Amino acid sequence: MDIEGLRRQIPTVQKMAYFNTGWEGPSPVPVIEAIKERLEYESYNGPSSPEVLESAESIARQAKEAVAKLVNASPDEIALTENTTEGLNVVLNGLPWMAGDEIVTCNLEHPSVLLPSYNLQQRAGVKVKVVILSSNSTHDEIVSKFEEALTPKTRMVFLSHIEYSCGLRMPIKRIRRLTQGRGIWMLLDGAQGPGHVRLDMRDIGCDFYSMPGHKWLLGPDGTGALYIRKEMLEQVRPVRVGYRFAKSFDQAGNFVPLTDSIDKFRVSTTSAPLRAGHLEAVRFHQRIGSDTVEQRSLAQAARLKTALSAIPGVRVTSPLEGPECTGLVTFTIEGVAPADAVAAMWKTQRILTRAVAFPSGIRASVAFFNTDDEIARLAEAVRGLAKAPKPRA
Ligand SMILES: Cc1ncc(COP(=O)(O)O)c(C=O)c1O
Repeated sequence: MDIEGLRRQIPTVQKMAYFNTGWEGPSPVPVIEAIKERLEYESYNGPSSPEVLESAESIARQAKEAVAKLVNASPDEIALTENTTEGLNVVLNGLPWMAGDEIVTCNLEHPSVLLPSYNLQQRAGVKVKVVILSSNSTHDEIVSKFEEALTPKTRMVFLSHIEYSCGLRMPIKRIRRLTQGRGIWMLLDGAQGPGHVRLDMRDIGCDFYSMPGHKWLLGPDGTGALYIRKEMLEQVRPVRVGYRFAKSFDQAGNFVPLTDSIDKFRVSTTSAPLRAGHLEAVRFHQRIGSDTVEQRSLAQAARLKTALSAIPGVRVTSPLEGPECTGLVTFTIEGVAPADAVAAMWKTQRILTRAVAFPSGIRASVAFFNTDDEIARLAEAVRGLAKAPKPRA
């Protein structure tokens, strides 16, 4: 991988040590140009002219095809969304729930998993069961806790592929195997998945996987995709609907809904420039290759964990080795509040990380473009904070 050549295409990394791709990735020039070009094309050529409308459809189709290829699914199983949370809501609120059904999730989850689940609990009488894990639970421990939590009433397992707070990669295939043949749906929050680790929907075997374009894929805000396994499509009824939901309708109250096409989730007008950026982001990623990106990110994250672990007063809370690891590295500095450490590193050194909660810490997202030098700078900055005199309690 030509890291320097790739970095030259990412303007943000010329200006700072960027360790926050898990929140939002820095777009490369081809993505920025694709958005600009499309916006100009629409603005200068009649935004509703037949050519512009037709090419907008073509961009959406290509984006779906590109995402489908990236995750080994069919384009008929991919809906374009604006972000991960939207896709999770589409599924959760569109399935036929019965009072007493149980959703099993875990305590490390992002609010985008917990809050839609709690909302459903209040609205539809389902019960949310929270499995208690720690940031360095092993896959064996996680699988056995999920196995214990499943009951004949379990209707869904809903969790992140990669936990945002600590980077723990969940044993989703093993959990899937536990649920198979028991009428249990599997919905995955893939916010930290695409552009970070290799994805294969057929291999995972989940029913639903929701993902963003704006994080590790380095696409623009306002882009994402939802995978719905073909066999599940008819079970999910859109909750927000527009004219694409109708197979036929008239002005007299007659209406036949579309049931068997992913197009039923397209609500109304969207932004073709952003879709063009999303498409280009997937292409940019594919030119490097998911395996190459994942291996590089893992290697650089391991380098950072080793450096941090050697600093007195610093504790890495992310998994240290094994299949649980990813490019997300979370750590604490004794006597320093995570938000203060994040602010100090940004202000004095232009190093961008973020504070996370549950468990609380400083999170560095280590992406393929992060260099050895940037990792050394981050570790040095942490060493400085760890050594600084602390106010007496
Ligand atoms: C695990 C997880 N879920 C959901 C989200 C929200 O993602 P989005 O902004 O794409 O809705 C994030 C964002 O950081 C996340 O890490």
